[in-house]
Amino acid sequence: MGTDIGILTVFACPHCTMPLHLGQYEARCENNHLFDRSRDGYINLVVGGRLAPNSTSGDTSESLRSRRSFFATGSYAPIATALAEALGDITGPILDVGCGEGYYLTHINATEKYGIDISKKAVQMASKLLPDAHCAVASAFRLPIVDHSCAAVFSVFAPHSFEEYARVLKPGGTWVTVTPGPHHLQQMRPKRDLSIDEREERRSEPPAQAQHAERIQFDLNLSPSTANDLFSMTPLVWQTAADASPTTQVSVDVWVSSGTSL
Ligand SMILES: C[S@@+](CC[C@H](N)C(=O)[O-])C[C@H]1O[C@@H](n2cnc3c(N)ncnc32)[C@H](O)[C@@H]1O
Ligand SMILES: [Zn+2]
Repeated sequence: MGTDIGILTVFACPHCTMPLHLGQYEARCENNHLFDRSRDGYINLVVGGRLAPNSTSGDTSESLRSRRSFFATGSYAPIATALAEALGDITGPILDVGCGEGYYLTHINATEKYGIDISKKAVQMASKLLPDAHCAVASAFRLPIVDHSCAAVFSVFAPHSFEEYARVLKPGGTWVTVTPGPHHLQQMRPKRDLSIDEREERRSEPPAQAQHAERIQFDLNLSPSTANDLFSMTPLVWQTAADASPTTQVSVDVWVSSGTSL
């Protein structure tokens, strides 16, 4: 009997770019580069990850806990639905770039789900939530993914690179991004001068690469604790004065943009 080399994945070895095979306790490429697989099933593909500075460690446990309890209220279900509709039913590998704790991956219809995030804690939570998905700690700007291997790739409020999307997508593959629109969570933002607002406005347009863009807008009337969760899970928490208390009436305004790889 031959050695069990595990399941063939679209994860690429960060040393030699060959596909990784997932065994129960490890991931391995043909060149025998070896990566431990955690008890929860994820792998760490940041080379020298343990030495990486804290500044690149992504979302914290606290913000991830807030995110999970916020999602449990169903407040962002319309975003998840719009994302799932933009993607459609996917046959083959789909990759969530900056997957966080895994919420959006649970809402899409696909035969092979992959998630990456730079935050180890996020990847751990996503792996527990989605035992059938393959998750890895990795950078959005250097995806450890085999060239032209994914049927679809998406990103929700997370860093992503269109060059990397083009590299990892199969010809005809779909990409989707969810990004903030001009009025997204505006009631929670610090008041700023007009020139900054104008700059923000430009940054709140769909990406230039988009072939389709749908704007989703709705209002939320949150309990104080849910408002706190929403506030803690967004970058706003870093921008706002410590004495500001999150408002419970908020506008959601997002772009669901998509395109097809050539
Ligand atoms: C605002 S959160 C969105 C998470 C998830 N998509 C969601 O909407 O729930 C941004 C995520 O991007 C991750 N992140 C930040 N920088 C990253 C990078 N360079 N590569 C991969 N992920 C990154 C963070 O750890 C965090 O989980
Ligand atoms: Zn290798």
